[in-house]
Amino acid sequence: MFLTKEQQMMLDGEYGFAIAKLTKLVVKIGEVNDATKLIPIKNAQIAGVSYFTVGDPIFSFFNMLSKDKVKVSVPSWLNPAGMDMERWEEMGVLESFADKQRRIIQHYKEMGIETTLTCTPYLIGHQPKLGDHLAWSESSAVSMANAYYGARTNREGGPSSLASAIIGYTADYGLHKVENRVPSIIVDVNTSTANFSDFSALGYWYGEKFHGVIPYFKGIKNTHIDQVKMLGAAMAASGSVAHFHIENHTPEARKVDMNYVTNIVSFDEKDKKQVYDHFNQIKEDANLVVIGCPHSSLEDIQYIHSTLGEKSIKEGIEFWIFSSQKLMQTDDAKKFLTNLEVKGVKIFTDTCMVVTPVIRRNYKNILTNSAKAAFYLTRDGTNKVNLLSLFEIMEGVSE
Ligand code: F3S
Repeated sequence: MFLTKEQQMMLDGEYGFAIAKLTKLVVKIGEVNDATKLIPIKNAQIAGVSYFTVGDPIFSFFNMLSKDKVKVSVPSWLNPAGMDMERWEEMGVLESFADKQRRIIQHYKEMGIETTLTCTPYLIGHQPKLGDHLAWSESSAVSMANAYYGARTNREGGPSSLASAIIGYTADYGLHKVENRVPSIIVDVNTSTANFSDFSALGYWYGEKFHGVIPYFKGIKNTHIDQVKMLGAAMAASGSVAHFHIENHTPEARKVDMNYVTNIVSFDEKDKKQVYDHFNQIKEDANLVVIGCPHSSLEDIQYIHSTLGEKSIKEGIEFWIFSSQKLMQTDDAKKFLTNLEVKGVKIFTDTCMVVTPVIRRNYKNILTNSAKAAFYLTRDGTNKVNLLSLFEIMEGVSE
């Protein structure tokens, strides 16, 4: 791989042991993927934050980095942690967990990383631009950066996104190259996608069938950002699909080379129903509703607020929304948050249903409108879910 003089010095240890280690990691990943050079990145989104998912080994990694006092060289922000940083006790998080979680966040903070703790950085002012090279690591954020904004990022691991954030470079392979961003399959969507959960069902269906293959969707009429994020998140969860095109909607769709399409498939009512049926697992009553995978936007929460109207959440049911703290601190959010809390809706920030340990530990039967959440919550058999539209959920759990 070609390295500039500066990059070679980084690799040779001229900037310290930690920088050499991190550069080695990025170069190694590049070599495995036949990259011929490193390219500068605009910013990084770093996963590997929840103590529930990273455990104690992360502290030895931090120790290695802190000896050289390394800092990020590009704007960088964090994925959700394992708890709401303020309301963790209310969630049922234990003090021993909270202590480790706070230490993890502190380490990242000392490296100069913005501790915004969200998988939807684009909802809090970090919208990538067309053609930007990034090192993002949360899979739904990666697919939004690529598909919705036309930026370029592979799905980085936690350590590699952190390494890129510090050295300022990533390896030039995969979705950083135009020729790897073309679709191979056209998907004719022949059924309604009126509900946000329908986008989630479409994404789940596609990812499961066509693992890792870039699709070009036709027939989708409505593409609000909240719908597209549900589609991308589900596709990434079930099939590691990190990029997609939607005819007439996503920025690269108009100019993309269609000569590599080898297959045309159709998504019909029966396919959609199959996904809902697959996640229709609860026979007894649900005791928890989880919304906000990916993290909810203000519009998502406003919809819940207006659908609830004069009603409240039924006794015995916990209703949790996950979002980012930055969004919930805006004046627009404050207008309806108190009212929602009074009616039994809890809005937790900084975390989500998948990366917190409390849901698996304390709850069994769960309702959600996100196929990605449904997929991860049921993977190890601890939880059972029903995948429903948000409207159906609201109808069932309010009175
Ligand atoms: Fe985000 Fe957690 Fe879902 S990180 S995409 S809310 S699994």
